[in-house]
Amino acid sequence: MSSLPAGAAPGKIILFGEHAVVYGRPAVAAALGHGLGATAERDPLGPCLRIPSWGKSGLEVRLQAPGKDFDAIARAFAAALDAAGLGRPPVAITLDGELPLGVGLGSSAAFAVAILRCLAAYRREPFTSEGLLEAAALVEAVFHGNASGLDHTVVAHGACLRFQRGLDPAFAPIALAHPVPLVVAWTPREGSTRDAVAGLQVRHDAHRVWYERLFDHIGQLAEEGIVALEKGDISGLGVLFDLNQGLLNACGVSSLANERMVGIARRHGALGAKLTGAGMGGAIIAVVPEQPRRVVDALRGAGFDAIATRVGG
Ligand code: MEV
Repeated sequence: MSSLPAGAAPGKIILFGEHAVVYGRPAVAAALGHGLGATAERDPLGPCLRIPSWGKSGLEVRLQAPGKDFDAIARAFAAALDAAGLGRPPVAITLDGELPLGVGLGSSAAFAVAILRCLAAYRREPFTSEGLLEAAALVEAVFHGNASGLDHTVVAHGACLRFQRGLDPAFAPIALAHPVPLVVAWTPREGSTRDAVAGLQVRHDAHRVWYERLFDHIGQLAEEGIVALEKGDISGLGVLFDLNQGLLNACGVSSLANERMVGIARRHGALGAKLTGAGMGGAIIAVVPEQPRRVVDALRGAGFDAIATRVGG
């Protein structure tokens, strides 16, 4: 039996520099072990997108009659078909995986990249690296508006990267001295990435000088974070996470839930912790080189989802 055209993409975590990256400062992000996979099969009534693990009983989006609730997903799917130059083909895509949806772990970038890779396999013509990034940017724009490009770049490359908007190339791989032991925890978000980015833009436009200073500091922490990653300085990394978290709080993107998760992680042995992604709830990451189970159990005991993982290696 011939295999179905398929594509996959990991989720991502941002180690340093979220939000400031939108304003041209450097950021550091890495692929996550969890991700999404897409398969394509013939469907004479297509195009159709099925996501069995999203929503209460799964999603099915048909472009001919998109449901009201699925508008953004339908528009993003249509953007992917257009970016792949496929028009409206008789195809059903099934997207599945273990990546939690909408908590800042790169689900929309993984959605874009996994579907685009699957559509490229279906049309029997892979994207070039640049073509995939351009196409993913078009799909991501449906969800995120003024996105920096960081999320889909790290998801498409699947490594640990330094990213800076406006540079050419915008990204460079980081050679980690050792894998970084992390705990990732998450909770539902209070707002979307689009809302968090737009809210910060309003504050930035009202008090440009103050916010530019905060972004400068965040950018410097990202540069120092790269040095710590390259040296394998895990405890230094923890300190830099804590400092970055304080600055994200000052930017107004950390919620009570983020602060609680960060506090629990620190109290149970993390060397440092910060939110990851756009904030307003969603995910945090904590550096936990020893007994990560203690931190995971404490976070789960407080009602949050949590896993122990490693970046790199
Ligand atoms: C979202 O994962 C990261 C943000 O910096 C937005 C962006 O970079 O587009 C908040």
